[in-house]
Amino acid sequence: MRPLTPDTLDIRPRRLDVSLPDPLQRWWLGNDPFRSHFFNSMSVLFPDGEQFFIDSVRHFRDQVSDPELQQQIRGFIGQEAHHSREHIEFNQRLSDLGYDIGKLERPVKRRIRYVNKHFTPQRRLAATVAMEHFTAIMADAVLREPQWLADATPEMRRLWRWHALEETEHKSVAFDVYMQVCGDRRLLRRAMRQSTFFFLRDVTIGTLHMLRRDGQLTPAVWWRGMRWLWGRDGFFRRLLGVYRDFYRDDFHPWQHDNRALMEEVAGEYTATLVR
Ligand SMILES: [Fe+2]
Ligand SMILES: [Fe+2]
Repeated sequence: MRPLTPDTLDIRPRRLDVSLPDPLQRWWLGNDPFRSHFFNSMSVLFPDGEQFFIDSVRHFRDQVSDPELQQQIRGFIGQEAHHSREHIEFNQRLSDLGYDIGKLERPVKRRIRYVNKHFTPQRRLAATVAMEHFTAIMADAVLREPQWLADATPEMRRLWRWHALEETEHKSVAFDVYMQVCGDRRLLRRAMRQSTFFFLRDVTIGTLHMLRRDGQLTPAVWWRGMRWLWGRDGFFRRLLGVYRDFYRDDFHPWQHDNRALMEEVAGEYTATLVR
């Protein structure tokens, strides 16, 4: 049973209809090194991360009998595959600017290899569910509160809003599959604690690396960045409440009902639907 997932959800990938500037503007978000590199560091994680999400959901595909959910799995895989492709290009642009993307990706690839080898499929899916909650709450923030991307260059704003829109649309797919094939909440909470640790670690390492390369790793830049993330009204600070909801026993992603927002943003991208 999936009582909370709206049954009108039509999850379909869209093409990103802008090409990324070449070269990329180094500090494309408000000419601010920290904020630009915070988003850049997330981009570095996406291609490998999204492939891992696809694999862990696909593993259980045959066990899902609900045709609606089957259809949503298809949409989920299509959307994540498109995101991966765009972020590979994005990351190539970052390499072109002189950042060592290979070095940042290596520990992520190694960890995913380890997890694929040693974790049960249920645990891998739990990790995916946890990371999808992360992306869902961040996506909601950037769509709901335009200030986060207000001073981005237009192409980058388009890219991040596109990604945020589709993360919102498919936010419950991995969760619904997990509840059908496993449902263990303890495993889910554990996966969230681990995913939180590694996500924050990876993003911090990436941001530090890029700031260092730019000669911008100064206490002042770092302090300002930390305030932007964790200070009053900070990007992460504002997410703490919705983040914590994940640990509740009755949590479901659509309890954060942002359908109206999603439909509004979808209107900006109707021409780009695939199929
Ligand atoms: Fe994605
Ligand atoms: Fe996703």
